[in-house]
Amino acid sequence: MKKILLIGNGGREHALCEALCRSPQDVEVVNFANAVNPGIKQLASEVIVGNYMDMDEVKRVAQAVQPDFAVIGPDDPIGAGAADALLEIGIKSFAPNKKCAQLESSKSFTRDLCNKYDVPGQPGYVVLSPPDKGDLGGSLAKLKQFYDQYDGQIVVKADGLLGGKGVIVAGDHFETLNEAEDFALKSIEKFGRVVLEEKLIGEEFSLISIVDGETVLDCPAIQDHKRAFVGDTGPNTGGMGCISDENGSLPFLTEQDLADAHEITEQVMKAVEAETGTKFVGVMYGGFMVTAYGIKLIEYNARFGDPEALNILPIMESDFVEVCEAAINQKLSNIDLRFQPVATVVKYLCPEGYPTNSVKNVPIEIKPPQSPLSGGSDSPLDKGGLGDLTNCYFASVGEEDGQYLLKGSRAIGILGTGDNMEAARLDCDAKIANFSGPLFYREDIGTQALMQKRIDHMKQLRGE
Ligand code: AMP
Ligand code: GLY
Repeated sequence: MKKILLIGNGGREHALCEALCRSPQDVEVVNFANAVNPGIKQLASEVIVGNYMDMDEVKRVAQAVQPDFAVIGPDDPIGAGAADALLEIGIKSFAPNKKCAQLESSKSFTRDLCNKYDVPGQPGYVVLSPPDKGDLGGSLAKLKQFYDQYDGQIVVKADGLLGGKGVIVAGDHFETLNEAEDFALKSIEKFGRVVLEEKLIGEEFSLISIVDGETVLDCPAIQDHKRAFVGDTGPNTGGMGCISDENGSLPFLTEQDLADAHEITEQVMKAVEAETGTKFVGVMYGGFMVTAYGIKLIEYNARFGDPEALNILPIMESDFVEVCEAAINQKLSNIDLRFQPVATVVKYLCPEGYPTNSVKNVPIEIKPPQSPLSGGSDSPLDKGGLGDLTNCYFASVGEEDGQYLLKGSRAIGILGTGDNMEAARLDCDAKIANFSGPLFYREDIGTQALMQKRIDHMKQLRGE
């Protein structure tokens, strides 16, 4: 029996837990969570609730559990050094250490690294790092110079983890030099630095790779939909839904585009080791943009995406436990990472009002599944069984007195699969029909109309 400690309790961790439990090996998952996830509770042998941002507590829990290894889902414990804390007590993690995780936690680290090691695909950028808050050391003059150089078409990035709110893009979030200055000064005040970048024009996609410091194994390419409402309008969110095609690519990408993105990840992985002296183990999630001038790097995350994990993990044919262990032991070159050749569409059901003013603590209904598995406990899942709820991943949902309650953030991620994207979208929508309550989702994700817009955009940019 292998014991795995899974840290985190969102939709991504529900998908991680399911992928670990699907292993043909004899596996037991213990979940260390900030709150009980009703989906994980069904699968894990135990859920321990505590504060996974407290590294002493992480160590105490792991000491008691004695896992064979740990899987750390979210960015914040990874960035805070949970893998380092676990290693202190001899437990290895499928997650990067704190130094390597700077790839996500510090945008200036990543840009400076790529610059130093001549990694291709970088936009123009500059890091403003004044001597102290009282002495801006000419930073505002440098900002104006950069702004003028790119005719105001720039992006201003706070240099730390701000839950998706740390980036403003000219034309989308600000119009004037003054607004750029205000945001830059706030970042300097909070993090001591700010990153300015040339604004890139193109189509974004994610290439998530499993890496061990030596080998890079790519998952299917994915496109996320960050805006809250239909037609890519409304505020940014953690991601309303993601798509991938049956060939592991996306209709607006060429084979060369994917090869170029892979090459960037491989070069960055090696640069991280040269710079930090340690190997990156876990997930390198590259956010890329395909532009008229080829593939450009937007950012790296040091973990699976949420919802991207919901597209990838359920269709992984390889044994995910074996993959994690191979990554931890620098044996990924022995792994043939395989996925079912299906298209995927994931949509998050969100509480009405999300992301600015969500309804909270309101119950949602789940249609009784057709094939009850068991009964006996108070859990609504146990009453009905998981019947037709496969591929439904719980996120910000609590369970009280036999009811599921919305907790304010993205609630339930639903995966549809099919021979092509249209079939996957219809499968996703059919599963969504099982849920009712004050919920909304983006109906346009995975539609042919939205995809055609992306394809036409790229054709126009490539002058085809
Ligand atoms: P990040 O946190 O770096 O992923 O940035 C959040 C979002 O801002 C990205 O998903 C892009 O939509 C946008 N963005 C970031 N950097 C750039 C850039 N250099 N050019 C255009 N858009 C960008
Ligand atoms: N879906 C975007 C992210 O996980 O960062």
